[in-house]
Amino acid sequence: MKLNIALLPGDGIGPEVIDQAVKVSNSIATKFNHEITWVKALVGAAAIDKFGDPYPNETHEICLKADAILFGAIGDPKYDNDPSAKVRPEQGLLKMRKDLGLFANVRPTFTFPSLLDKSPLKKEIIEGTDLVFLRELTGGIYFGKRGRLDNGNTAYDTCTYSRGEIQRIAKKGFDLAMKRSKRLCCVDKANVLESSRLWRETVQAMEKDYPEVSVSYEFVDAVAMRLVQWPKSYDVLITENLFGDILTDEASVISGSMGLMPSASVGLKTSLYEPIHGSYPQAAGKNIANPLATILSAAMMFDDAFKLKEEARLIRRVVNLSLEKSIVTEDLTNGENSYSTSEVGTWLSNAILK
Ligand code: IPM
Ligand code: MN
Repeated sequence: MKLNIALLPGDGIGPEVIDQAVKVSNSIATKFNHEITWVKALVGAAAIDKFGDPYPNETHEICLKADAILFGAIGDPKYDNDPSAKVRPEQGLLKMRKDLGLFANVRPTFTFPSLLDKSPLKKEIIEGTDLVFLRELTGGIYFGKRGRLDNGNTAYDTCTYSRGEIQRIAKKGFDLAMKRSKRLCCVDKANVLESSRLWRETVQAMEKDYPEVSVSYEFVDAVAMRLVQWPKSYDVLITENLFGDILTDEASVISGSMGLMPSASVGLKTSLYEPIHGSYPQAAGKNIANPLATILSAAMMFDDAFKLKEEARLIRRVVNLSLEKSIVTEDLTNGENSYSTSEVGTWLSNAILK
């Protein structure tokens, strides 16, 4: 099969972890006789430096033409500490999501048998956790009206959702629940927020189309608590943009390291695959970042975008093998006997070819 993949390494550790996902994907291509064409494009701070634009049109065109997008991370501290900066790397990510219509961000949380003791949570609480967040990604407070009043002394951001925006993400939630355990949790703050009441009303109205799915409605603060108390009580969760941002970082702790969790963003055009971790600038260029989240994102890409199930399974199998054999980066060791980012990538690509 011919696979045309847009490659967006981005900032910070993005390029290093992306390199490993490329190595692993190329081994998969060799093993299964696929032909991958990688088309590299700039995004984030890297794109601001070159074009003055964190998501240049050239990058957008490459993404539109690709069969899938593999993306690293975005963000650079030199912009974080400058509240007056006119362009920010993160704007590139938001523009990319909006322009590609990536309205659903699929963020699974699961555990690895060999890493159960790496989580700060007790083994018996996390063992067997297998849940998926569907985070709405192109609406809400991230994209609402914002501004300053009162000579700059008052600021506001607004959270707006239309019924249509809620329906399309909820539909993905119901469909996914049907393929899994038929349990769906709608996360909101309907006791306070009008936008949440519309979420609840919209999802409730859809229940009749999915009589087999049992839906629970829970407030975001309660979910934040139960997620670490008893994560196994959840299966598929749908939530608006900001709640999803926060809860999925929290959920990543369950697996033991943020460096492990992959994600997919899907919607109207080309789908995008990316690790849920950020650009981790403190580690950039040190060859220490964990590449597994990006490699597992590539597995999601083979699985979902190309329907190459066996290829995806093999990536997951060698990742599990590397964990069992402790071929891991320093976030998963006590600092001793750790492997570098590129060593882990090379080990996995070799294991695929064996
Ligand atoms: C994420 C990130 C982004 C977000 C940032 C970098 C804008 O935290 O993908 O979760 O808030 O969506
Ligand atoms: Mn986030």
